[in-house]
This record gives sequence, C-alpha cells and structure tokens, in this order.
Amino acid sequence: MADRPEVHSQASQRDPNARPRRDMKDVGSEDRFSDTSGVLFEQAMAQTRMAVCLSDPNLPDQPIVFANRAFRRLTGYDEDEILGRNCRFLQGPKTDRAEVSRVREAIENEDVVVVELLNYRKDGTEFWNALHLGPIYDAQGKLLYFFGSQWDVSDVRAAREEERHARAMARELSHRIKNMFSVISGIVNVMGRVRGVEDTASEINSRIHALGRAYETTLDEASVGVIDLGPAVKAILEPYAVDERVKFLGNGAQVPFSAMSLIGLVLHELAANATRYGAWAEGYDGQVSVDWQRRDGNAVLTWIETGGAPISGAPAHSGTGATIMNRMVAAARGTIEREWKPEGLHAVLTVPIEGGNT
Ligand SMILES: Cc1cc2nc3c(=O)[nH]c(=O)nc-3n(C[C@H](O)[C@H](O)[C@H](O)COP(=O)(O)O)c2cc1C
Repeated sequence: MADRPEVHSQASQRDPNARPRRDMKDVGSEDRFSDTSGVLFEQAMAQTRMAVCLSDPNLPDQPIVFANRAFRRLTGYDEDEILGRNCRFLQGPKTDRAEVSRVREAIENEDVVVVELLNYRKDGTEFWNALHLGPIYDAQGKLLYFFGSQWDVSDVRAAREEERHARAMARELSHRIKNMFSVISGIVNVMGRVRGVEDTASEINSRIHALGRAYETTLDEASVGVIDLGPAVKAILEPYAVDERVKFLGNGAQVPFSAMSLIGLVLHELAANATRYGAWAEGYDGQVSVDWQRRDGNAVLTWIETGGAPISGAPAHSGTGATIMNRMVAAARGTIEREWKPEGLHAVLTVPIEGGNT
C-alpha cells in the first residue's frame, strides 16, 4: 500500500462512508479503515515525518504490508523493495544481536517494545533507529498487525556519547586533582613536622582541603564550564557547619569554574574565623546565614553571623588568612566588605563574572 496524499480521494473526504482506497485493502483482508477515522489515519500516516510501518503477523515471517513515505525516505528503499519483506533487512553486521532478540521476544509475547538498533540504509550507511513496536488488535482481540515507528536518533546518540566522554574526562580529572591535593597536603605535613611548625602546616592544610572540596563537587559539571554555586558552597562549608548552625539562602546561581578557588578560600577563611572568634565559637550558639546571587555581572556572597562570641569592632591586626583572602580577592578584581557589628560579622564578597550564564 502506498501513501499518496494526492490520491487520497476527494470523494472520501466528501463522503465519510466512502469505501477505503483500493490500496488500503492491501493492509489486510478486513475492511478496517473504511470509516472516516480510517481515512484520517491514512492521511496522517502519509504526511507524518515519522517513519511508520505495519507488518502482518498472520503471514509467514511477518512481512511489512505498509510503509509510509518517511520510512522510504529514512531507509532509501522503494516501496516494492519493502513490502512483503521482514523488517530485519535493515539490520547488518554491527547490529546488536541481543537487542534484536529483545525485539523477537517482545513480538512473540505481543508486547510493546522500544529499542535502539543500528540499521543500514539501502546505500549501506548506518543510522541509529529508535524503534517502537506494538501489537494492534481488532475489536474481538484478534492480533491483526504489528505497528512499528522508526526514528533516526544518530545525532542524539552522538551528543550522548560526547556528553558521556566529557563526564568520564571530568571524573578522571577530579580523581587526579584529588590525588594532587592529598600529595600536596602530605608534603605540607612532612615539612611542618621536619621544620617544627606543625601548627602552620595544619593551617595551610585546612586551606588546601577547603580548595579540594570546592573542586570536588564542581568537577563533574566542569565539562559545561559553569558551576552551580549552591552545592559548591554547601560542600565547602560542610566540615564547619555543625548542628545546623548555618542557613543556606542562595538561589540556583551559576559561576564560571575559574571563580571557585577564590570562593572556596574566602568561605574557608570566614568559616575558620567564625569557629575561632565568631558565631561558631565554643560556648556560643550562634548562627551563620550564607546567601549567594548573580547580580549585575557579579557573583555576590553574603555572610551574616549572629549570636556568637561578642565582638567589639574590627580586629586590631589582620591575620594571615585575611591577608591571603584580600590578595586573592584583589587579584580577581573583586571586593570583600566586612563589618563587625555587635551581633556578629557581616561580610559581602563580590566577584566579577565574565561569561558563564545564570
Ligand atoms: C512492525 C515491525 C517493524 C520493525 N521495524 C524494524 C526496523 O525498523 N529495524 C529493525 O532492525 N528491525 C525491525 N523490526 C524487527 C524485525 O522485523 C524482527 O522482528 C527482528 O529482527 C527479530 O526477529 P528475528 O530474530 O527473526 O530477526 C520490526 C518488526 C516489526 C514487527
């Protein structure tokens, strides 16, 4: 049966009770498409861009009895090369036999099945066919046809493969970076012990670990170049945020991967200070709320402490942590404003973001 919309008789449109077109009879022995919906179905099948075919399970080796134009276009075969053959003629040397067996079993069990099969066009070129099969019954429940729709998903598969590759690379990179952080950390420990400066070494190490955490959560996404700030902020603060004494307020802002070192280190310094002198200091029950937003081309992190150890203004001299933080912020052309209010520190980090979308 051909799908020729141009021959779809005007008569059948005028007369809903018109007999089906002669070629519709090729579908089978029964007159199943003789009503209006049948004619509409026929026209829809002819016009759809989705390749569609019907096979007759009541004939030996289940031959195709209908294939629409899109099927012919997809496979490159003419109608007379398709009708009367089992659809396996589209398979070839690289078609996965296990998937073909799944199709065979589904057909035997009269199940619906969706598989992706490597198929071959008439000219020998390969394409990935997302094949959807299902049985069609008459009103008495007798199996009449199998319906098949074919969709060329070669592009989708290629994109998926690329994505898979990028993720595998990111995982590998993440693994290597983690190793590198632990090697650096080991060197710092050994040097600290040898030189008798264990305290300094452990301080440096806590910074290295904060950086490690900042990268760890973000590397899986690194392939797309932007990082979700929320999960990264939470991971960086995880070792400090005891007893739910931190409130995360930020939205789904994203930042470029390159901003993570700075954000990781600044959060570490703020958290370390809160633990030593502020909201998280021993003997107090203070809270920290952390907010993050994308605003006017900047990532803006707001850190607000309340209920911690009482403070009376800015510290007399800034420690090493603050010096490192200030240098890094300046190098990134950002700013960090700190205000020592009676109830606790308020800090706002602003980092200019080039590229990266929100
Ligand atoms: C309606 C229908 C459409 C089918 N379309 C395809 C197809 O596009 N590509 C394909 O490789 N197999 C297709 N098949 C599957 C094969 O025809 C066949 O059932 C499968 O290869 C398993 O049987 P076999 O192990 O005897 O080959 C289709 C089957 C049916 C019933």
